[in-house]
Amino acid sequence: MTTHSITITQPDDWHLHLRDGDILNSVAPFTAKQFQRAIVMPNLVPAVTTVTQAVAYLDRILAAVEGTDFEPLMTLYLTDNTSAEEITAARKSCFIKGVKLYPAGATTNSDEGVTDIRRCYPALEEMQRAGLPLLVHGEVTDSSIDVFDREKVFIDRVLAPLIDTFPELKIVFEHITTADAVDFVLAVGPLIGATVTAHHLIYNRNAMFEGGIRPHHYCLPVLKREKHRQALLKAIASANPKFFLGTDSAPHAKHRKESDCGCAGIFSAPFAIELYATVFEMIDALDKLEAFASYHGPDFYGLPRNNGTITLQKVAHRVPESYPLADQSIVPLMAGQSIPWQLVPAND
Ligand code: NCD
Ligand code: ZN
Ligand code: ZN
Repeated sequence: MTTHSITITQPDDWHLHLRDGDILNSVAPFTAKQFQRAIVMPNLVPAVTTVTQAVAYLDRILAAVEGTDFEPLMTLYLTDNTSAEEITAARKSCFIKGVKLYPAGATTNSDEGVTDIRRCYPALEEMQRAGLPLLVHGEVTDSSIDVFDREKVFIDRVLAPLIDTFPELKIVFEHITTADAVDFVLAVGPLIGATVTAHHLIYNRNAMFEGGIRPHHYCLPVLKREKHRQALLKAIASANPKFFLGTDSAPHAKHRKESDCGCAGIFSAPFAIELYATVFEMIDALDKLEAFASYHGPDFYGLPRNNGTITLQKVAHRVPESYPLADQSIVPLMAGQSIPWQLVPAND
């Protein structure tokens, strides 16, 4: 039987970039209309490294989504100098839900990131004590390592030893892209979870080179081989609670993507939940969408599941070629293409 509509508990996005200023105002409403909450990444310039900065950023986000009941879940950006005291302050704040590890130089706005994880031990010890999760961009930055192998090498060199040193630390392995990451997450204990993006489920690395170079399919970690995409699909279809929704929607203006040195990041926020529904339907697992999108994340973070619901209907619609972004424009994922599912607006 063909499903024409589904209603699920309102989902959350456990990995999101909202940026700041005019860009924040342009992109935040897309997320607020689908998701109840989102873990907001702290890689602004300058980075959100203190509770004071996080409060101010929270206020700016709330102003950008005024009139909605969207709840931003804030994070701190881990640096070599993050003190145990700052972590204590974060725990006491109640609105900071994680601390983000960017290896220095690994991705967009990671210059202030960690150069050597051992420098972070005082902060990590306090996070372990406080039950504050570490959110990880899991790629090594060693330029001698092939870009397609950086996640796997990160597991061996950084993540596995880190778990040995801090066995009680909650860790989210963000935007996993490989069979190696899936296997690793399955092999370790229940304190390690992982987010999975829509784009890594939809595309393999060929999508970056289809008929020419495709900057809007470039993100980090970079898209991988088909066998890795298949492993991600198998992971979400298994309904294992370690895997949950994190779009990694990462807006960059059109001209900054279509450039001789284009930025990494895919903008999937406008139709994120529709894209995940499309993927789950494609693998005949639509009945597993709700747990992935709405249960596993809050359960992992120790937060309540949402009370509200959203409805998606099977109505094909075309994704716009671009959207305004402050005084520029931005190209969404699947621009100009048709998506089979559509979110029913809340007040219909
Ligand atoms: C993200 C961004 O643009 O902030 N880019 C990306 O390609 N995913 C950073 C990140 O999540 O690594
Ligand atoms: Zn990242
Ligand atoms: Zn990200």
